[in-house]
Amino acid sequence: MASSDYGFMIGIMMTIFLASFVSADPELLQDVCVADLNSGVKLNGFACKSNISADDFFFAGLAKPGLTNNTFGATVTPASVQQITGLNTLGVSMARVDYAPGGINPPHTHPRATEIVFVLEGELDVGFITTDNKLFSKTIKKGEIFTFPRGLIHFQINNGKVPAAAIAAFNSQLPGTQRVANALFASSPTVDDVVLTKAFQVGTKEVEKIKAKFAPKK
Ligand code: GLV
Ligand code: MN
Repeated sequence: MASSDYGFMIGIMMTIFLASFVSADPELLQDVCVADLNSGVKLNGFACKSNISADDFFFAGLAKPGLTNNTFGATVTPASVQQITGLNTLGVSMARVDYAPGGINPPHTHPRATEIVFVLEGELDVGFITTDNKLFSKTIKKGEIFTFPRGLIHFQINNGKVPAAAIAAFNSQLPGTQRVANALFASSPTVDDVVLTKAFQVGTKEVEKIKAKFAPKK
């Protein structure tokens, strides 16, 4: 399929997504409210800035693949209100995820958004886990989509032999991402070992080993 056809499919997917999802964010009260990320005003979202232009609604950061030469062999490039200030109050955002062969976007949740992913290249094994611990998983390939319901733990892994890439859409301007392992083993201040040894039914040694892996590299 030609790349223009894929561009078209992405457009359709995004339109359906935007039209059919009830935003997880509050309803907007005006046409636009471009975020002033530097304002000291504290409110739900960001204060509106006054001089705005088309560039406030533009972002080219998803055009190129992100680097995948890291521990997980994958990179998430966000396109949220922090990159596109014009998204403030609009209740949507996107991200691009690139995966080396064997790369994983590790188990994480988005507390403020449902996510839908569209595979741009390659093949991904994806899944989410419900609050009654049922796993819903599937292998998805180029041109296919999968949905991760709001707040549920989910992941994607590239078990293929070639790189993979996906576009994610969210019904929040700032979905928030909490990686399960980082939250438990790399919080600041750290979660007491006794909590983790009892929760995971393992010894302190094992807990310390995992904590050491997540410690910032010196
Ligand atoms: C994928 O799950 C992402 O959050 O970008
Ligand atoms: Mn996600």
